[in-house]
Amino acid sequence: RKGNFDHFMLKEIFEQPESIVNTMRGRVNFENRTVKLGGLSNYISAIRRSRRIVMIACGTSYHSCLATRDLFEELTDIPISVEIASYFLDRRPPLFRDDTCIFVSQSGETADTILALKYCIERGAMCVGVVNAVGSGISRQTLCGVHINAGPEIGVASTKAYTSQYITLVMIALSLSEDRLSKQSRRNEIIDGLGKISAQLQEVLGLNDRIQAVSETLVDKLKMLILGRGYQYATALEGALKIKEISYILAEGILTGELKHGPLALVDADIPIIMIATKDKLFDKIINGIGQVTARSGKPIFIASQNGPTLVEGKKKENGSVETKAELQSAETSYVRFEVPETVDCLQGLLNIVILQIFGYWLAVKKGYNPDHPRNLAKAVTTE
Ligand code: UD1
Ligand code: F6R
Repeated sequence: RKGNFDHFMLKEIFEQPESIVNTMRGRVNFENRTVKLGGLSNYISAIRRSRRIVMIACGTSYHSCLATRDLFEELTDIPISVEIASYFLDRRPPLFRDDTCIFVSQSGETADTILALKYCIERGAMCVGVVNAVGSGISRQTLCGVHINAGPEIGVASTKAYTSQYITLVMIALSLSEDRLSKQSRRNEIIDGLGKISAQLQEVLGLNDRIQAVSETLVDKLKMLILGRGYQYATALEGALKIKEISYILAEGILTGELKHGPLALVDADIPIIMIATKDKLFDKIINGIGQVTARSGKPIFIASQNGPTLVEGKKKENGSVETKAELQSAETSYVRFEVPETVDCLQGLLNIVILQIFGYWLAVKKGYNPDHPRNLAKAVTTE
C-alpha cells in the first residue's frame, strides 16, 4: 500500500497535490468564485452572528488553526482565539452561548479535544467539527462541520491532514465572509490562489532531491531553529514539530519578532537555522530578522520566493533601502536557499510547510529512524 515509496509519510507528502484537490472538490467553484460547504450551509448565518470564534485542537491540528487565524480575523471581523485543547481544559475558561467553537482533528478521536468539546457543549456554545475520519467521535458529537476528505492518513506524523485542514479552514473563513461586499476582491484573490495551489505544491515536491542532499549535512546536529513570522509562524511551529517527532532533533519554531527577546542568544555559526522568508507584507521585517541572525554569524537556510529579491547575496534590488541592508550584512556569503512558488499570503504556508515535511522525513531516514513509527507516539491519542 506504500506504492513506490519506502514509507507512508513520504507517500502522504507526495499525495498532497491530490488530497488538497479532494478537500476542495464540490465545494469551491472557481468560475463563480464561490464556496459552498454542505455541512455548514444551515449554520453559516448563525456562526456569523457569534461574538467570538474559539478554535480548539492539539499538535499539528492546532497549527492549522494558527495558520488560518489571521485570515479569519481579516475576513470575519469576529474575535478569534486559538486554543490547545489540554491547556483549555486545564483552565476551564469562560464560554458563552453566543460563542462558536471549531474543533479540528484528523482522527476525530483525540481525548483532549473530545473532552474540550464536551465542556463547550455543556456551556451551550455552537460546536463545529473539522475532521478527517468520517463517523469519528468529534464528527458525530459536533452540531455540524466539514470533513476534510484527505483520505486515510497512516503515517504517525501528520502531513496531508495538515494541508487539508488548512484549506478547509480557509474555505470556512471564505464562507463566513460571503455576505460582505467589502471583502469581495480579497475573496476572489484567495479563490484564484486556491485554483493554482495544487500545481504549485507539485512543483515544491520537485525539490525533494535537493532537500535530501541538504539534510545530509545536518544529521549530526542535536538542535535546530526554525524562524517565521506572521502567517509563517504556524509554519515554523509545525515544521519544528515534524522534525522533532521523527528525527528527535530538538527543533524549535520561533517567532522572528521574538528573536531579540531571548532566542537570539542561541544563534552562532554552528546552530542550524531555517528561516522562512517568502515575500509578503512583512518582508521588511523578515529582512531585519535575517540581519539579526547573520550579524551573529548565523548561517540560515532560506525558504524563499521564486524570483523574489535575493535575500543575502544582495545582487537583485526591488526597493532600495531594505535590500541594501541585507546586502551589507552578507556581502560574501551565499546561503542555501529553497525557492517556492509565490501564492496569496494566506496560502503561502501550504507550500512552505512541504519543504519542512520533506526535511523532517529525510533527517529521520538518514539517522536510521522509521518516520512512520516515531518512538513513544501513537497515531490517535485517545487518553488524556
Ligand atoms: C456530503 C457527503 C458526501 C457527498 C456530498 C454530496 C458524507 C460524510 N458526506 O458531503 O459523501 O458526496 O454530501 O452532497 O456523507 N459533520 C459534523 N461534524 C464534523 C464533520 C461533519 O457534524 O466534524 C456533519 C456535517 O454538518 C454534515 C455531515 O456531517 O451534516 C457531512 O459533512 P461533509 O462530509 O463535510 O458534507 P458534504 O461535503 O456536504
Ligand atoms: C503530529 C501529530 C499530532 C496530532 C495530534 C492531534 O504530526 O500528528 O500532533 O496532530 O495528536 O491529532 P488529531 O488531529 O487526530 O486530533
